[in-house]
Amino acid sequence: MPSTSEPLAGSWPGSVLDVVPVLPVVVAHTAQEGVDIARALVAGGLPAIELTLRTEAALDAIRAIASEVPEILVGAGTITRPGQAKLAADAGARFLVSPGTTGSLLHAMQDSGLPFLPGVATLSEVLAALDAGCTELKLFPAEASGGTAFLTAVAGPVPQARFCPTGGITAASASSYLALPNVGCVGGSWLTPADAVASGDWPRITALAAAAAALCR
Ligand code: 3PG
Repeated sequence: MPSTSEPLAGSWPGSVLDVVPVLPVVVAHTAQEGVDIARALVAGGLPAIELTLRTEAALDAIRAIASEVPEILVGAGTITRPGQAKLAADAGARFLVSPGTTGSLLHAMQDSGLPFLPGVATLSEVLAALDAGCTELKLFPAEASGGTAFLTAVAGPVPQARFCPTGGITAASASSYLALPNVGCVGGSWLTPADAVASGDWPRITALAAAAAALCR
């Protein structure tokens, strides 16, 4: 686990799966909200954030986090259109995550030059991603796609694929995923409950992050 007191830029291992046990999946409605959330996560010992491109402010939030919270590794999530990959990279994203994968999305993420986690939900999609040279993948939606049973089954035919399962995972279920050899980290939105964000309850987010940071892989 990298130190939380030093900027990760330039020093992180390059594998999104190996930075934190839980990758916070975050929605920010303003750039300042993104910065406040990032600071709360770092204070709890989670120096990585997947800022989803689901709000008008998302790219500004990525830009602000990259400049004002350099100790966190900021990535862009919910990449669903090819053009978003370059926009996110230009805003300062250090990695990209897509919920699913198409040929054009894959090419755009490859062209960005950033590490990325293409989304998969079936074994055929895992095989297609491996064929394209991607061994680190987002399983989404994890619970609805079979959860830990799916991941255990996949490890037989394709042990080289490693996953960040996301979607329906909770503080209670995260450990069962992290115990699997083909899981590097899990993703989840439970660290940033909407009511905590709306009320600016950053200590609550820091406490949730601290509990998640203590989970063992
Ligand atoms: C994602 O985009 O990865 C999901 O919306 C996160 O899923 P969760 O809200 O069930 O954690």
